Amino acid sequence: MAKVNMTVNGSPASGDVEGRTLLASFLRDQLHLTGTHVGCDTSQCGACVVHVNGEAVKSCTMLAAEADGAEVTTVEGMANADGSLNVIQQAFQDHHGLQCGFCTPGMVMSAAALLKENPKPTEAEVRTYLEGNICRCTGYHNIVKAIMAASGQDVGAIAAE
Ligand code: FES
Ligand code: FES
Repeated sequence: MAKVNMTVNGSPASGDVEGRTLLASFLRDQLHLTGTHVGCDTSQCGACVVHVNGEAVKSCTMLAAEADGAEVTTVEGMANADGSLNVIQQAFQDHHGLQCGFCTPGMVMSAAALLKENPKPTEAEVRTYLEGNICRCTGYHNIVKAIMAASGQDVGAIAAE
């Protein structure tokens, strides 16, 4: 076992982990941040995406020990300070970007990373960026629409599905 210390959603967090403990497991099992979902454990689905030092990372592909000293943000850290949904979360709600919601935390975290590096992405750019995030419910259309709406773009031209 080894001690890890990191900042998670702006607060210090620490725990004892085995060398093989994944960051996703540490967040869920020790910190009880179960908004980070584990859909595959094999780096396919993107449900486990969090931000580590500002970069989107599939937390099932990173060891907790590798995040020692890092700044980690999970979907629980995305709401506005007053607890209301942030612009991306609100857009998912407004544009029906979710059904069962299993993929949604990863989608929101990936979307936030995309909009940070590309504040006004085209529809094609959003679709390309989301290649690592699988949704088995929505057909992606409304997710793409929500992300473009969150970027302040008019999504009226994107046909309803
Ligand atoms: S659980 Fe990490 S990519 Fe699926
Ligand atoms: S909303 Fe169900 S997996 Fe995406």
